Amino acid sequence: MNPPQNPVLSTLPRLHIIGAGKLGRTLARLLNEAGAVTIGNIYNRNSEHSHSARAFIGAGHVVAKLEQLSNEPAQLWLLATPDDAIHNCAQQLAELTGISWQKTTVFHCSGLKTSAELSSLQALGSSIASAHPAHSFSSPERSLASFASTVCTLEGDRQAIIALDSLFRAIGGQTATITAEAKPLYHAATVMASNYLVALLSASETLLEKAGIDGALSSAILSPLMRQSLDNGLTEGSIDALTGPVTRGDINTLQAHLKAIEHKTPHLHNTYITLGIEALRLAQQKNHLTEKQIAAMEQCFFKNQI
Ligand SMILES: NC(=O)c1ccc[n+]([C@@H]2O[C@H](COP(=O)([O-])OP(=O)(O)OC[C@H]3O[C@@H](n4cnc5c(N)ncnc54)[C@H](OP(=O)(O)O)[C@@H]3O)[C@@H](O)[C@H]2O)c1
Repeated sequence: MNPPQNPVLSTLPRLHIIGAGKLGRTLARLLNEAGAVTIGNIYNRNSEHSHSARAFIGAGHVVAKLEQLSNEPAQLWLLATPDDAIHNCAQQLAELTGISWQKTTVFHCSGLKTSAELSSLQALGSSIASAHPAHSFSSPERSLASFASTVCTLEGDRQAIIALDSLFRAIGGQTATITAEAKPLYHAATVMASNYLVALLSASETLLEKAGIDGALSSAILSPLMRQSLDNGLTEGSIDALTGPVTRGDINTLQAHLKAIEHKTPHLHNTYITLGIEALRLAQQKNHLTEKQIAAMEQCFFKNQI
C-alpha cells in the first residue's frame, strides 16, 4: 500500500532561488518555515555561498551550475542577485532547455528595477513581478525576527501579484501594489530613509570624533538623540518634530557650524547645507520665522554651497 500523502505538503509550490545572499536566504527560510513553499534548488556562482545559504535555510539542494536548475520543475523562481545581474540572469534562464515556463511565477526583489527585467521569461509563458520588501536585510538572522509587518510593494503581471501577495502575507508582510513608473522615486525614498540614515549617523560620529568625543560617549550622545528625533518625526510629523537653530533662525549658530565643518571635515560641508535647506523648508511651514530670518538663512546656505 502507498504511504498516506500529506495533502498540504503535496500541494506546496516549489521555489528555486538564484542568488541566495542576504535577502534570498532570509525570504527562503521565512517562506519554508511558514509552510508556504518547498525549497527546491539553490544557485549562486560560488557554490560555497550556496552551501552556506542551504545551511541557513535548512532545506533545498545546492546546484553548481545554472543548467542544473532544470533538474526539477518549480512553480516559483526568485532571482535575488544584485540588481544589475537580474536581466542577464533571466536571459540565461530563458536559454536553458528542458524547463517549461508555463504556470510559473518568476520574481525579483529590486526596489528600482521593474518586472520588465524578466520579460525574456514572460515571453516563454511565466508570470513576472518585482516584489520589494521595505526592509534592511543587513543581518539575515536578525531579519528573521524583525521581518513581520514589513511592507512589500508588488508590481507586474496580475497572476504573479496574486501569487506573491499570498506568499508575502504568509510570512507576515503587508503588501501594496506599485506602478513601474513610481519605482524610482519610491526606491529613492526607501534608500534615504534607510541607508542615508546610517550615513547621517556616521557623519555625526565623524563630527564628534573631530571634537574629541568617540566610543561610548559618542554613542551615549547620539543614540537617544537620534531615536527621540526619529520617534518624534514619525509620531508628530516632520514639521512639528523639527527643533534646533534653523527653526529659531539662529543665523550665527549656523555660520559657526559651517566654519568649523569647513575647517575640520570639509567633505561634510555640503551634506550639512543640503539637509539645512530641507530643514529650512520645514521651518518655514511652522510660520514662526520672519522674512528677514528666512532670507538670512537662505543666503547663508546658498552662499556657502560649493
Ligand atoms: N539587502 C537588502 O536590504 C535588500 C532590501 C530590499 C531589496 N533587496 C534586493 O534584493 C536583491 C539581492 O540583494 P542582497 O542584498 O541580498 O544581495 P547580496 O547579499 O549581495 O546577495 C546577492 C547574491 O547573488 C549572487 N549572485 C551574484 N551574481 C549572480 C549571478 N549572476 N547569478 C547567480 N547568483 C548571483 C551572489 O553570490 P555569488 O557571488 O556566489 O554568485 C549573492 O549570494 C537585490 O535585487 C536588492 O536590490 C535587498
